[in-house]
Amino acid sequence: MNTICSSLADIETRLAVPVSLMQDIITTFQVEMSNGLSGKPSSLKMLPSFMGIPTGREQGTIVAVDFGGTNVRVLLIELTGNGQTHIIDKRVFPLKDNEGRYNYTTASVSGMQLFEFIAGKIAEIIPAADKIYPLGHTFSFPCRQYGVNSAELISWTKELKTMGTEGKNVEVLLQSALERKGLDQVYPQAIINDTTGTLLTYSYTDKATDIGAICGTGHNSCYLEPNHPLTNRPMIVNMESGNFNQVPQTDYDVYLDINSEKPGAQRLEKMTAGQYLGEIVRIIVSGLLANNSMAIKADALYIPYSLRAEDISTMLADHTANLNEVANVVESCWRMSGLKIEERKALKTIAAFVTVRSARLVAATWAGVLYKIDPDLSRHHTIAVDGSLYEKMPGYAEALVQAMQDVLGVASKQVTIRLSKDGSGIGAAIAAATVYGSR
Ligand code: BGC
Repeated sequence: MNTICSSLADIETRLAVPVSLMQDIITTFQVEMSNGLSGKPSSLKMLPSFMGIPTGREQGTIVAVDFGGTNVRVLLIELTGNGQTHIIDKRVFPLKDNEGRYNYTTASVSGMQLFEFIAGKIAEIIPAADKIYPLGHTFSFPCRQYGVNSAELISWTKELKTMGTEGKNVEVLLQSALERKGLDQVYPQAIINDTTGTLLTYSYTDKATDIGAICGTGHNSCYLEPNHPLTNRPMIVNMESGNFNQVPQTDYDVYLDINSEKPGAQRLEKMTAGQYLGEIVRIIVSGLLANNSMAIKADALYIPYSLRAEDISTMLADHTANLNEVANVVESCWRMSGLKIEERKALKTIAAFVTVRSARLVAATWAGVLYKIDPDLSRHHTIAVDGSLYEKMPGYAEALVQAMQDVLGVASKQVTIRLSKDGSGIGAAIAAATVYGSR
């Protein structure tokens, strides 16, 4: 029988991201960036956004729709034109009702129905029927953009399955839903990825911002390409870095990937994003039971995705002597009771390994971008991040900073990582104002 200690040491080795691996990622990431930009085969889609960074003088009252996959947020935002943003109203609606009354993420619902739901929520937030509202739309999935207001969904990610949406122009779906609801005073102006929104929002005030990222349910980063081949001008590029596939997978990752909605796709995202962290922990713990390192019985442990990122957060935040919160989580998620203290500690340690691995892999990709746009790191760079992992997961933000220091050494002083709070929604408003204001 394996002891829990020897098993933990083995898991730690498998999940470690040493500096040597980060350096390999930096190199391969840059190659994939160049290939993607020049249209060669690459796991990085490098999608043009047709947006540069804002001046900070954009202004107006704008409706923003932020569609991420778990919730849809509808916001009314005031841009003052002096770098300030003000959220006048914000409403959040889950795409899947907890009581099971509706679910817009399954294959039994169509994109048309989904956008009708969203249009209904837009109707609720508009204060005056006789005023015109420009609308900015954040749509957090890989889209082929044909212009600032035209984007076709390439494929769903984050396990979404809504039918009749892949391959469709998402802005057309939204526009027709608005028309069906009689909302002809709402004018969609721009559609952007959430990473772009995050970058736009932070760069509204901090001009050194040149990377935007989401570390939340999903993972992705964008950056400001100084000289985009399409325009020979600066343009934000949505890398779809969650699809980066040059990171060695462990057996846990392979198992998760094979059993996911789209095997082979989004390999980095499946190792780093909130949608998957709990599932990786569950797969590891199932292995511990199988090799008798833990002597517990827990039928519910075998239910996929039975542990969520929020549960990992709760475990990592538990500093009680007996790790009572850890015990509560496994009791409620897996109906697993009577855990010994060493087992509780082991679970928390595994959750920490998985979380820190995520942060170190993400940091390595950012270092790859930084070396690509500024090989000597001679300038200051701000990386703007939004998302629940960055904002709420205990230790995540610190692990990113530590990883940057480990891999960049003293040059890490040139890099600041900042929360771009509500960046994905506010960014949609900034994007819309940029377009509306320039007409
Ligand atoms: C999507 C990206 C998005 C990221 C964060 C990924 O699954 O492919 O477009 O930026 O999630 O929401």
